[in-house]
Amino acid sequence: MALRLGDAAPDFKQESTKGPIHFYDWAGSSWVVFFSHPADFTPVCTTELGMTSKLMGEFKKRDVKVLAVSVDPLSRHREWIEDINETQGTEVDFPILADKERKVAELYDMIHPQVLANATVRSVFIIDPEKKVRATITYPASTGRNFDEILRVVDSLQLTDRYRVATPVNWKPGEDVVILPNLQDEAEIRRSFPRGYKTVKPYLRMTPDPARK
Ligand code: BEZ
Repeated sequence: MALRLGDAAPDFKQESTKGPIHFYDWAGSSWVVFFSHPADFTPVCTTELGMTSKLMGEFKKRDVKVLAVSVDPLSRHREWIEDINETQGTEVDFPILADKERKVAELYDMIHPQVLANATVRSVFIIDPEKKVRATITYPASTGRNFDEILRVVDSLQLTDRYRVATPVNWKPGEDVVILPNLQDEAEIRRSFPRGYKTVKPYLRMTPDPARK
């Protein structure tokens, strides 16, 4: 069955390019971005894994561990990493699971047989430190993902866990956010948002990003 937001992320053990991974132990108390790609030695995947590697500093800043998976064997992953490093000007340093018997792919419903019978589509799971699925994104094989968007979703989740706000359309860190509609107590709003807020409509109240320095 498909995983839904709020579900526990399934635990597993699987081989990876960084040695065997027991998912819950490996994730520890960090956030995780877990994503599948259709196959090694394919052009779009090569650019995606290269970009992910270049963004590792951004993931680390947010305490996010990155894990990739496809149904290719370990030996193919290892050869392909050399190509990614060479062509994308990077050093891939995050693990890629070798899931050739599709154990993890099926656990996370990453194979969508109506479009791709023998490989994973481009699934993304953002998993929080309590191992809950907090966001899912699914793209077809022909469309490379926007990893800046994945970081933006992590930023939104981490901000909205900390403050009683939600992030509006196209929000980026530092921009105004909305106060949750169920927060109605005027004194509490003033206490929670000392930089003030603007009531556009009773249900649409804007306040500066409370995490902005
Ligand atoms: C790619 O990563 O380039 C790709 C993989 C499967 C189908 C189409 C493109």
